Amino acid sequence: MTHPNILVTDSDGILAIEISRRDKKNAITSDMYRAMSEALSHAREQSHVRVVLIRGQDDLFTAGNDLGDFLHRKAGDPSAAIPFLHLLSAFEKPLVAAVAGNAVGIGTTLLLHCDLVYAADNASFQLPFVNLALCPEAGSSLLLPRLAGHQRAAELLLLGETFDATTAREAGIVNRVVAADQLMDTALAAARKLAAKPAQSLAVTKSLMKRPPERSAIEAMDEEVIFFADLVAAPAAKEIFSAFLEKRIPNPEKINGVKP
Ligand code: COA
Repeated sequence: MTHPNILVTDSDGILAIEISRRDKKNAITSDMYRAMSEALSHAREQSHVRVVLIRGQDDLFTAGNDLGDFLHRKAGDPSAAIPFLHLLSAFEKPLVAAVAGNAVGIGTTLLLHCDLVYAADNASFQLPFVNLALCPEAGSSLLLPRLAGHQRAAELLLLGETFDATTAREAGIVNRVVAADQLMDTALAAARKLAAKPAQSLAVTKSLMKRPPERSAIEAMDEEVIFFADLVAAPAAKEIFSAFLEKRIPNPEKINGVKP
């Protein structure tokens, strides 16, 4: 699981995936997608990993897919980005992203699959697919209109111009904009909070939120009730209820079984 341009660290329940290919503005090659897929698979399988953090540096996220790779791609060639995006989209544990500097193409669209996205005030986003004679990828043709509304998504996807962190926040792509030197601390603090919460509740909550929106509120309630009934009777919830009633702090080992 090592690649010189994908730096993976695993500590305190947080698996951090850092894109680091600075001479090429962190552009992502096929091998880099494969390394990120391996890191995500590892994070999915390891119960001690509670949260994944995707980051670049505090002045750069990624200039998107390596255009040299695109240049040599023939119609029908498999793309290593696809398995990565599938893993990301179906990832059960919380995904936090920290974005600074350029976030182009998949650098923006991968954020639509994350749960908490923090951006530095120097971040610059772009969805240049039409400009590159391509079309949206990573499910962004569905997810962005859903998130931002049709007109706003159309402006970003059809014009393909760069937009700043405030615009990204207004479009719903970003949770919060912070000073560049605060970015990694802010994202890590959120990741640490998530890592300390009951893992099963996080996973169930995320899966309920990611159900297709076509279902009715009644269907949503019916599905919620099934999971709720299991969770309310599980040891983690019991420990939290007991702690509240006994005016004590819940024992984290009773909540997640093992220490994060
Ligand atoms: N693929 C391959 N190489 C890339 C790249 C990409 N997506 N983005 C940048 N690079 C390379 C440049 O070719 C250059 O390499 P060189 O030094 O060997 O010539 C190096 O990274 C620095 O890029 P440069 O354009 O000089 O940096 P900049 O700060 O002036 O501009 C960007 C940064 C991101 C605005 C600009 O590089 C850019 O538009 N890149 C293409 C983004 C893109 O279209 N991505 C695909 C989306 S689907």
